[in-house]
Amino acid sequence: MQWGSATLAFYGIGAAAVATSVAALRKRLELSQAKHPSLSGHAGIARRLARFLPFYEYDAERFFCSDGAPHDIATHRRAGFKELSQIYRTRFAETIRATAEAAESLSDLQFTAAYRVPFQYRRLVRAHLPSASFVESSCGVMLTDLDGNRSYDLTGSYGVNLLGYDFYKETIERGAARVRELGPVLGAYHPLIAENAKMLKEISGLDEVSFHMSGTEAVMQAVRLARYHTRRSHVVRFCGAYHGWWDDVQPGVGNPIAARQTYTLTEMSERALRVLRKRRNIACVLVNPLQALHPNVSPPSDSALIDSGRGAHFDKARYGEWLKKLRAVCSERNIVLIFDEVFVGFRLAKGGAQDYFGVRADLVTYGKTLGGGLPVGVLCGRRDLMKRYRDDRPADICLARGTFNSHPYVMAAMNEFLRALKTPQIDALYRDLDEVWNARAHMLNARLAAADLPVRVANLSSIWTVSYTQPSRYNWMLQYYLRAEGLLLSWIGTGRLIFSLNYSDADFAAVVDRFVAAAGAMQQDGWWWHNPALTDRTIKRTVFREIIGERWARLRRAIFDDGQRPR
Ligand SMILES: Cc1ncc(COP(=O)(O)O)c(C=O)c1O
Repeated sequence: MQWGSATLAFYGIGAAAVATSVAALRKRLELSQAKHPSLSGHAGIARRLARFLPFYEYDAERFFCSDGAPHDIATHRRAGFKELSQIYRTRFAETIRATAEAAESLSDLQFTAAYRVPFQYRRLVRAHLPSASFVESSCGVMLTDLDGNRSYDLTGSYGVNLLGYDFYKETIERGAARVRELGPVLGAYHPLIAENAKMLKEISGLDEVSFHMSGTEAVMQAVRLARYHTRRSHVVRFCGAYHGWWDDVQPGVGNPIAARQTYTLTEMSERALRVLRKRRNIACVLVNPLQALHPNVSPPSDSALIDSGRGAHFDKARYGEWLKKLRAVCSERNIVLIFDEVFVGFRLAKGGAQDYFGVRADLVTYGKTLGGGLPVGVLCGRRDLMKRYRDDRPADICLARGTFNSHPYVMAAMNEFLRALKTPQIDALYRDLDEVWNARAHMLNARLAAADLPVRVANLSSIWTVSYTQPSRYNWMLQYYLRAEGLLLSWIGTGRLIFSLNYSDADFAAVVDRFVAAAGAMQQDGWWWHNPALTDRTIKRTVFREIIGERWARLRRAIFDDGQRPR
């Protein structure tokens, strides 16, 4: 048979098209396989499902027996709840009153009050254990609320408080004195800035520095520069990692629009490395080394604590190995490796995560504690990546601005912070950092185990998280018992405890006593009643059924009651 040239060309184009589609399909499949199977690993699906989730709540009856506990246990819990509520109402009276009044005008307070516990329990908790979010002074490791109660601070001010509030008070005051003559002049710099840049270059091992107003902005600038220099579009972030609230790095629930140029991949996964090797559109990879404590899991918040599935375990060697592999692939593919050290910078080691894990990044972001108590974001990077213009194309620039960048007062407080790092006292704090905090976590766990309490902690140095060893629907109650014992947590509850390094052994021993007492009281009040039929799986199944039931009920109401479309 003789084939005409037109037929041959037709088959040739067809074969090429099939080959291209197969290659594209394979790449798509590899991307899917590199995603974490959890909902946080699938940002788009998570966003859509979040819209589907209906609000429903437990009434005063079910609130106390949503795990199927018998009547006597529910009665016991109710009495404990009432007593705790009484303690709150008397001990925190003024703080609660002021919080409620301010919440009328402060949207942030309304949000944080609503998202402290799983939503099914929210209304009764808010009515009886209201938020008491005001404090008026700090001293040592304690905070004092408006009623004069002194509590141990386990909030760590979102991680800013590394060296103790008194340290930052002094830093701010001394810094302010040094720039007083200049005042809040912007645009022109106070000479202190040059010294800051020099110290930051030494710490980061990188060539240049830029100053911003928040960690979020430092991350935005890092990603923008990576895109500019690589001329590629996509950002890789790892499942669960927080990098601030800018759209492109926060693609899931909480962001009303889809982040179309972000890949969320599984951390510590060969499949993720394969995607980095194969795709040509990846500008940068963002790593938040805090995730080493719970890879691929979102920041643990008590509002999501519906069962006891939350766990954490830090393995320094394994995470370090992962970072080395990532470094190698990024170098091989000219992908910019960004360490987002806004949280962990200066907390794990003086040289940050780069030093701690022995891996160098191309760009590093810092923030939080680096501002010496004032707001800041900092980007350090390789000279070629930090450049914001091209010599040969004058209009091809990479813009970065911000009115308050390099504010003299912030620069001065930062200068005090960076200078303090060089003092022998601070140096000594870093010497046995891991040993000290690991021993402390061990000590608390030993006490909890000895008291037969179903609670444990895991830690990445001075950053801790609480997990629960037996299935329960009520673990989120612990935050309220801890508060009653004088331990102050941030609004995300027991998912994150942050210690400042000025905690003495005596301070810590007091925290342990109070922690064990709080968990003991919660145990006594029956919240950790347990039945072998109650597993994390059955709890999830129950909640799932409730959600479907509520959705169905709404649909029926819409169709049969008022003929309207369900919302
Ligand atoms: C790793 C990381 N990156 C970025 C940010 C955002 O910093 P900021 O809240 O200062 O904008 C945070 C804040 O918690 C963070 O932990």
